[in-house]
Amino acid sequence: MIIAIDGPAASGKGTIARRLAAHYGLPHLDTGLLYRATAATLIAEGRDLYDEESAVSAARGLGLTDFNETTLRSRQMAEAASVVAAMPGVRAALIEAQRAFAARPGGAVLDGRDIGTVICPNATVKIFVTASAAARAQRRVVELANRSEKADYNAILADILRRDARDSERAAAPLRPADDAVQVDTTHLGIESAVAEALRIVEAARIRA
Ligand code: DC
Repeated sequence: MIIAIDGPAASGKGTIARRLAAHYGLPHLDTGLLYRATAATLIAEGRDLYDEESAVSAARGLGLTDFNETTLRSRQMAEAASVVAAMPGVRAALIEAQRAFAARPGGAVLDGRDIGTVICPNATVKIFVTASAAARAQRRVVELANRSEKADYNAILADILRRDARDSERAAAPLRPADDAVQVDTTHLGIESAVAEALRIVEAARIRA
């Protein structure tokens, strides 16, 4: 069973993906980490974030396991990831590793922006997780504060809106729901209700499959 979860930043897709993976005993890949790690490599090597050739070579050199999540989860890295993720060459360089992960025996859970549309168009089930920008900004503030990062609500909201626009308006694999995705709006849902809703969707798809 392949479970594809897409949605914008801080929509709750990561939490839902992790919980579904634990529930079904499936491996989980947070594909945002690939773009974050690509950007982090460029920054660490002092290279130009907008140089596609360097970004493609950084993407090609990534392993799927060598992620330092503390560095990669920062606000700076989220923004930088969104820049390199708009480059068609970077996306192409990362497709094979994501598809290989999805093809593991028994299946997998992948979350990102283009899993249902590009990476796994034949996924068993596709969920598109949304929430209002205000709710997402509020969640990110709490998350950053928990990690002792400075978190000003208005600045975070501006980050989220800028990243939404870049991720949705790019030509290469823009953020959008697949035609056959089921949408879950988590604006007014707590984690447990959102996960329960996602589980209902997966179970319904399993019965159909
Ligand atoms: O999910 P995230 O916030 O960790 O993603 C960071 C950036 O990476 C996001 O702004 C867009 C990009 N991304 C993407 O383009 N495609 C994916 N499958 C996952 C992330």
